[in-house]
Amino acid sequence: MAEKSWVRMVTAQTPTNIAVIKYWGKRDETLILPVNDSISVTLDPAHLCTTTTVAVSPSFDQDRMWLNGKEISLSGGRYQNCLREIRAQACDVEDEEKGIKIAKKDWENLHVHVASYNNFPTAAGLASSAAGFACLVFALAKLMNAKEDNSELSAIARQGSGSACRSLFGGFVKWIMGKAEDGSDSLAVQLVDEKHWDELVIIIAVVSSRQKETSSTTGMRDSVDTSLLLQHRAKEVVPKRIKQMEEAIKNRDFGSFAQLTCADSNQFHAVCLDTCPPIFYMNDTSHRQVAYTFDAGPNAVLIAHNRKAATQLLQKLLFYFPPSSDADLNSYVIGDKSILKDAG
Ligand code: DP6
Repeated sequence: MAEKSWVRMVTAQTPTNIAVIKYWGKRDETLILPVNDSISVTLDPAHLCTTTTVAVSPSFDQDRMWLNGKEISLSGGRYQNCLREIRAQACDVEDEEKGIKIAKKDWENLHVHVASYNNFPTAAGLASSAAGFACLVFALAKLMNAKEDNSELSAIARQGSGSACRSLFGGFVKWIMGKAEDGSDSLAVQLVDEKHWDELVIIIAVVSSRQKETSSTTGMRDSVDTSLLLQHRAKEVVPKRIKQMEEAIKNRDFGSFAQLTCADSNQFHAVCLDTCPPIFYMNDTSHRQVAYTFDAGPNAVLIAHNRKAATQLLQKLLFYFPPSSDADLNSYVIGDKSILKDAG
């Protein structure tokens, strides 16, 4: 390794994803292994994304991270697991332009600084942890010249937050629950890329940007412990639905896609109500929307068949919830599906 003065930096940008067949429930809390497969659509990074810069320098004496400008602790198991796993994959780095040479073995003693920024409300049920951990792992992989492909990286991002594994790809993505005890086969694969069904328009109706009261982690733990409906869903319902959803996506069959997406969102919220104590993620405004999928928060994700349908839907939304008044609905995020972008 050369002198102490250098800093190597990489910046990456990763969009969030919205599940159309939901992940809800873990069979292993530490490795973050789910009780069922799930499928999501990755959003356009222009609207809901995390931008993360990672830096390494021999002058850093500890790993540190800043989220939206505020320093946060990296002592939690999820961050530690991601950092350990990605360090284990680090390779030699040679940056001739800057005169930096890092040997594989040097990474054990080098520390990183991470600055991450979300362009949307954190922890309001808009999958901020998904974009956050996917971006962190992706950026660190570039920094450390790790050779893993995006599916292999997804298995690392998964250990930060389950849904993060699906943000390593654009388009429609499936998280395969896997069978292995060590979680090595629990990873994300791309079903189709963002061009496959590019007429779809996704509208996110932000009815509340407040931090949700029950985190997904706590909520799903309680559901696993107390909901019989969750057991039935994971064993009987989701396996069939996954196959049907894959077909609907492959054939661009909007009727089946919409029916399955709504049914799965409804069942997920039914599981939340079947949990003891019950979890309420939607508020009254959510129920008034023509909402078609809700994550662990009150915000509606509406998926329109094409731009014409999206325009009509927006006209209705703007009529009922004019943004100029102090209505609950205070912003619109419209995005075509898009891909993970390396801005480094
Ligand atoms: C409702 O991935 O946030 O959005 O793995 O505990 O970090 P942890 O949970 P998280 O849960 C997301 C749940 C969901 C459904 C989904 O995205 O599939």
